[in-house]
Amino acid sequence: MRITAQPRPERIDPDTVDLGDPAFYAEGDPHPVWTVMRREAPVHRRTLPDGRSFLSVTRHADVSAVLRDHTRFTSRRGTMLSILGERDPAGDKMMAACDPPVHGALREPMARVLSFARLRPHQEAIRRLVRTLLQPLADGGPLDLAAAATGFPMAFTGALMGLPEQDWEYLARLTTMAVAPEDATFHQVGGGAKLVRAHHELFAYFAEQARSRGPRDDLVGFLRSMPVGDRTMRREELVYNCYSLLLGANVTTPHAMAATVLAFTEHPEQYRRLGDGTATVEDAVEEGLRWSSPANHFMRYSVVDTELSGVPVRAGEAVVAWLGSANRDERVFADPFAFDVSRSPNRHLAFGFGPHYCIGAPLARIALRLFFAEVVRLVGEFELAGPVEHLRSNFVAGIKSLPVTAKLR
Ligand code: HEM
Repeated sequence: MRITAQPRPERIDPDTVDLGDPAFYAEGDPHPVWTVMRREAPVHRRTLPDGRSFLSVTRHADVSAVLRDHTRFTSRRGTMLSILGERDPAGDKMMAACDPPVHGALREPMARVLSFARLRPHQEAIRRLVRTLLQPLADGGPLDLAAAATGFPMAFTGALMGLPEQDWEYLARLTTMAVAPEDATFHQVGGGAKLVRAHHELFAYFAEQARSRGPRDDLVGFLRSMPVGDRTMRREELVYNCYSLLLGANVTTPHAMAATVLAFTEHPEQYRRLGDGTATVEDAVEEGLRWSSPANHFMRYSVVDTELSGVPVRAGEAVVAWLGSANRDERVFADPFAFDVSRSPNRHLAFGFGPHYCIGAPLARIALRLFFAEVVRLVGEFELAGPVEHLRSNFVAGIKSLPVTAKLR
């Protein structure tokens, strides 16, 4: 997905744009469309040729309301447009596809394991990995930063989950295929429906991991013996939640890294501020998250007749909350199309909002801060060294190729 400067005032009819079309994000730019929608059609209904329909919400306030309020908007029937209108088999089993109180019973023990404190001992290993990842730049060569970043989350999620290192590359490709089944770059397995195949392989993988794992040696073992109310986790719940943790980390973190570096190539004066100490890596990471919004949307279904921005919403409608749009809402962010590494306040929704707020956010923040601290130590200035390629996905605002060179410090 392109990330533009302030879109020029244009006449765009939201009825003519298909925000669900993955190809639109490979070649197009949703920002001019979202800007018009926030202004003129903040709650917009689209009916597909096959009769299925969904509402799009684009303002920060409506996106927050949809994500926050499970009594009006449920996660149990699916949270991604790719399964619009289908029953979500993970409903009530996978944390991301549950509502409270089932959701809390799964989330609370997991959140304790994924806290800042539990992750601190892994910092040195993550830092070493970042140095390896950046080595081609240190050697004076070009680096496809997006490609190099793809495997990065495996180094912390894979390590925490205790997954064998020789499987990491395979798992990274499968998780990307699961969110971008239309993108041929990541086709790991041949034939038919890529989404189904990716899910099938990942579930089979985790079922095998669960079988062979003793209790508590690592995150998978912990999940196996984790209390869920008055019982332990069922095999199916374990498989779904391992899948969700891996997917959550793998498909988002690399894109925050690549999109932020791309922004540094376009706004070198902002990057220089990290070197001269007028901005912090912590704030730059938050602005990179706002700017890139790696999770492009999350979906809910309304369970009651309600309204959003004064527009009636009928019970049973699918409602798609576009996070990338909310993060450019001029009602919340001053000059939202300015990339400002010391933006404050920065109430971005890149990690969502409410009960499903990203459980991996502490881990992602540690990893991104370590990554950019090493980048700033090494690189004085970035330059683009080739064309940027964007992921064909309506779910992840991804970059799949970002060739850069660096002037070293
Ligand atoms: C830059 C990195 C990341 C971004 C932008 C991101 C984004 C998000 C968002 C927007 C949600 C809310 C989903 C909803 O409302 O339905 C979410 C939830 C979730 N994320 Fe992340 N995520 C990131 C990193 C991670 C990591 C590193 C992990 C794993 C360790 C992870 C695992 C999850 C899980 C399991 C959920 C579901 C939480 C729940 O339902 O309570 N994410 N993430």
